[in-house]
Amino acid sequence: MLGSSIFPGFSGMPHIEREELTPEESDQLLLPGGRPPLWKHMESIGAVGLQQREGVPSCSQKGLPCPSDSSELVLECLQQFKVTQTQLQQIQNSLLGSMEQALGGQASPASAVRMLPTYVGSTPHGTEQGDFLVLELGATGASLRVLWVTLMGTEGHRMEPRSQEFVIPPEVMLGPGQQLFDFAAHCLSEFLDAFPVSTQDLQLGFSFSFPCHQTGLDRSTLISWTKGFRCSGVEGHDVVQLLRDAIKRQGAYSIDVVAVVNDTVGTMMGCEPGVGPCEVGLVVDTGTNACYMEEARHVAVLDEDRGRVCVSVEWGSFGDDEALGPVLTTFDHALDRESLNPGAQRFEKMIGGLYLGELVRLVLAHLAQRGALFGGCTSPALLRRGSILLEHVTEMEDFLSILQETVMLLVPECDVSFIPSVDGGGRGVAMVTAVAARLAAHRRLLEETLAPFRLNREQLAAVQAQMQEAMAKGLQGEASSLRMLPTYVRATPDGSERGDFLALDLGGTNFRVLLVRVTAGGVQITSQVYSIPECVAQGSGQQLFDHIVDCIVDFQQKQGLSGQSLPLGFTFSFPCRQLGLDQGILLNWTKGFNASDCEGQDVVCLLREAIGRKQAVKLNVVAIVNDTVGTMMSCGYEDPRCEVGLIVGTGTNACYMEELRNVASVAGDSGHMCINMEWGAFGDDGSLGLLRTCFDANVDQASINPGKQSFEKMISGMYLGEIVRHILLHLTSLGVLFRGQQTQRLQTRDIFKTKFLSEIESDSLALRQVRAILEDLGLPLTSDDALMVLELLWPGGSHSQGASPSLCGHLPAVRRWVWQRCSPGHCGCLSPCPDGPCLKKSPGTTLAGPGPRSYLSPATQDSQNSPNVAILWPLALISGFLREK
Ligand code: GLC
Ligand code: GLC
Repeated sequence: MLGSSIFPGFSGMPHIEREELTPEESDQLLLPGGRPPLWKHMESIGAVGLQQREGVPSCSQKGLPCPSDSSELVLECLQQFKVTQTQLQQIQNSLLGSMEQALGGQASPASAVRMLPTYVGSTPHGTEQGDFLVLELGATGASLRVLWVTLMGTEGHRMEPRSQEFVIPPEVMLGPGQQLFDFAAHCLSEFLDAFPVSTQDLQLGFSFSFPCHQTGLDRSTLISWTKGFRCSGVEGHDVVQLLRDAIKRQGAYSIDVVAVVNDTVGTMMGCEPGVGPCEVGLVVDTGTNACYMEEARHVAVLDEDRGRVCVSVEWGSFGDDEALGPVLTTFDHALDRESLNPGAQRFEKMIGGLYLGELVRLVLAHLAQRGALFGGCTSPALLRRGSILLEHVTEMEDFLSILQETVMLLVPECDVSFIPSVDGGGRGVAMVTAVAARLAAHRRLLEETLAPFRLNREQLAAVQAQMQEAMAKGLQGEASSLRMLPTYVRATPDGSERGDFLALDLGGTNFRVLLVRVTAGGVQITSQVYSIPECVAQGSGQQLFDHIVDCIVDFQQKQGLSGQSLPLGFTFSFPCRQLGLDQGILLNWTKGFNASDCEGQDVVCLLREAIGRKQAVKLNVVAIVNDTVGTMMSCGYEDPRCEVGLIVGTGTNACYMEELRNVASVAGDSGHMCINMEWGAFGDDGSLGLLRTCFDANVDQASINPGKQSFEKMISGMYLGEIVRHILLHLTSLGVLFRGQQTQRLQTRDIFKTKFLSEIESDSLALRQVRAILEDLGLPLTSDDALMVLELLWPGGSHSQGASPSLCGHLPAVRRWVWQRCSPGHCGCLSPCPDGPCLKKSPGTTLAGPGPRSYLSPATQDSQNSPNVAILWPLALISGFLREK
């Protein structure tokens, strides 16, 4: 409830004026946090002023004030600690301003609070259950607590945690970090030794109450020590790792550190919700701090526009930029100077329990030295730092009512109720740990599910060998899943070609008609896309070819070409046995086409017949080419070294220039011919069996050509969406996604278009896009679901643990998928080919290197960083083959 109005009417950032109080104002004492009233007028307080020989009481006899002067002195001193309502409101505004600046990511010196996002995105569901170890460090002064917390879910009654407190020796608090963490690990063992529990699967939540940059539920880097700790070698390090290392060194128990949280977060999470959920955590203990649920879109560093996140304010450092100047007393300054971290945590030092006793001591000592107390005598104890503790000076009994009153005064429009924390947040830490443990288990299941998609070097080498064998057999005319079809293209272009051509492109998602003008100045292309309805793609052949001719006529009209008979090239991206450049017998349909009466026919004839049926149209079909050949030729036009064409689009395939003497089905021994490999069918003889996952099998079974185009179905765009859908179904059945709820929507074929995968291109937008896509599909997702699906679609994206964003930074998602499937880490080494085939982006394909052209690099180049990794594997396969020749 507090959280909803945490920024009421803030505007600007006023500074706080020191005010002279009238006697009436002095009565309106407003001291949240039980700040004890002390005196004013202390000019010379400080270490020097207080020093004295140990053990001997010292009395100043000279110039002692008389009793009435004494009480005046005391009152004046008290005055310094009074804060008026106006000052309080100024502090409030200043704090809110500071919070807003820090949230907005402005690193201005005025922003003294830190506003650190935690990885807690929602308040507890109440369903969390299980046994958890909790280690608390930093919440309660110089001690450390170990707790055993049992969460019973919604059903059971609440069980009191069992806990043990350990005092941390001062030298440990100030010594090397390793010593502190070893001490913590030792305490854990001691606790477990004394407390017989099953030592299997010990899961630990680490309550670490210091300012930290969290980068995961179990990753948190200490920014700086506070509250009397100053161990070396910890700032700037991941405290979870330090604890894990110490537990390992200790060696007594195997404990999984699952989550790390700040004490404020534990306090908030552990609260029994009242009328509404508890959305603010507040700690005034050794130190002071608060956390609350914030809209994620307000947190600049998150770059996230939906959902909420718990933010640790780290308000102990408020005032480090002098914003609190006017309400700081000379005692506050003296205390700060004497502290371990002068100038830091100024707000905390005003109200945190670690410092209150010391403030009182400073005042008492001063008054004694001024003769206003103890007959002007001081004792060594009074002069010793730290001799007065919090419990000596204050009972915090009415703390809640002070809080309540102050909040009512400052935000009268809010209805706030405070719920005291019963076990210091241990339960809350356990709840976060429960969630973290569940997520970790889900992540493991995701990993297991995706593992078969990642191929190691040996697997790749085996596939490479198989492909080489299949290529050789195909060329020899022996039975092979690679048909190795001659294309009658005997040379790559030499760049001297000129003229206007019409081109048709059939075989992808859409049908395209193009006008290509090749002049000395370059190539100019005008094109139009037409759709091919599924009923046409799977209807009769006549219908399909009539539709194609209709589209051409439309294009000619629009381009003012009617009546002209330009040479026409037909890019027909299906396996064809060519008998010449303008003759191609369709062997079989692929990629969702299934028009009747076409297989076994010459598709050029089918096109000519359709042209004939549409009288008054003149078209001159001169060549039929596969899209791979078209791609190779268009690239070769610019660079004659280009000798391989490769497509990973709706389908996948490759062609390359082969020496004619290796091609058994074509007469002649000299020269070259482009061979259409039709590698989409690779593995149709079962040779890819070991690499096939159950998801591939499902997709194949549901396709219109089961058992055909095995390789294509594993990597090409037409099938990726379905593979993803089957993985989502599987993960849902494991309870990893969508809370285990299968929906009708997810059971529906083809809802997950491959284009969605290609849309997810930018790292920073990826999460939003995933969420938008899933929501558009009507899938009920939580933010954890979105992250999980992102991991699936964006393997190696910067969201995934430990991935280097540069590795995949340039790869659109589809290629990344291929990349994952092909695990190309070592591909460059499989078949080093020094001059390498040329890879060039052809207009309209999804496959491209980073620039207009890139070359497959020799093995020495760091293939990890090459954006071409997605295509290295297939190319390595071919290049390896070429090299063997
Ligand atoms: C200190 C810590 C903070 C903690 C607070 C209360 O201010 O920096 O993280 O929440 O103390 O223990
Ligand atoms: C399918 C076709 C093939 C084409 C490839 C890419 O595999 O059979 O001819 O090259 O898709 O479009």
